[in-house]
Amino acid sequence: MARRPFVAGNWKLNLGPTAAHQLATALREGLADVSGCTIAVFPTALSVGSVVPVLKGSGIAVGVQEIEAKASGAFTGGNSAVMAREAGCEYALVGHSERRQLWGETDASCAAKLVAAYDAGLLPIYCIGETLDERRADRVDEVVFRQLEGGLAKLAPDQVAAITLAYEPVWAIGTGEVATPDQAQAVHASIRGWLRERYGAVADDIRIQYGGSVKASNAADLLSCPDIDGALVGGAALEAAGFAAIVRASL
Ligand code: 13P
Repeated sequence: MARRPFVAGNWKLNLGPTAAHQLATALREGLADVSGCTIAVFPTALSVGSVVPVLKGSGIAVGVQEIEAKASGAFTGGNSAVMAREAGCEYALVGHSERRQLWGETDASCAAKLVAAYDAGLLPIYCIGETLDERRADRVDEVVFRQLEGGLAKLAPDQVAAITLAYEPVWAIGTGEVATPDQAQAVHASIRGWLRERYGAVADDIRIQYGGSVKASNAADLLSCPDIDGALVGGAALEAAGFAAIVRASL
């Protein structure tokens, strides 16, 4: 079965409710004619409420950038997956490298959050990827396999089958230094090989996005690789025309 491309915009800590509403409006108009691709945007949690009504019925889904493992309780500052679902989110990012580096997210905490996402009816995008030191030490496969092993540990096979993975080499995030299509394809193929060994033929249905300095000018080359099924876009997702061009490059 051919995998449907999936292009997502991670807006990170940018665009408050007013600016997020404007970008969502421009995307709804700019992508109105597009089909054959899954599209999602991840505003900051404070802007989800202004984006959801704009994108309702547009074919562009909304996701939450971060969730807690617990649905409610004494977790000051946290986002609940259940509440994100109630607010109109369909997806959740889990394990983004910024969360791993700046907030101490671990594979074990990601495992609990992936369960929480499914329990709440959110579809997770699980982010993995190596640092520059790890790449230089020739440890890429070891690192991403460990992140997969730990992160997916608590999921049932049908939940693994429904997951989206994002391979985001840390050294390519926000640096302008994009992995070459060959570098990215090689890791995507390793990831799919690992999935096939663990979970069988379902590996061929799991979408693996590439993330890290994707922009309109490099998207087509990356997205034409056989195991790259879409993109998780940061900086270039903050501008409607550029993001729309990346979406079109995936078709
Ligand atoms: P950039 O596209 O800005 O490099 O960010 C990638 C990313 O982290 C998406 O989650």
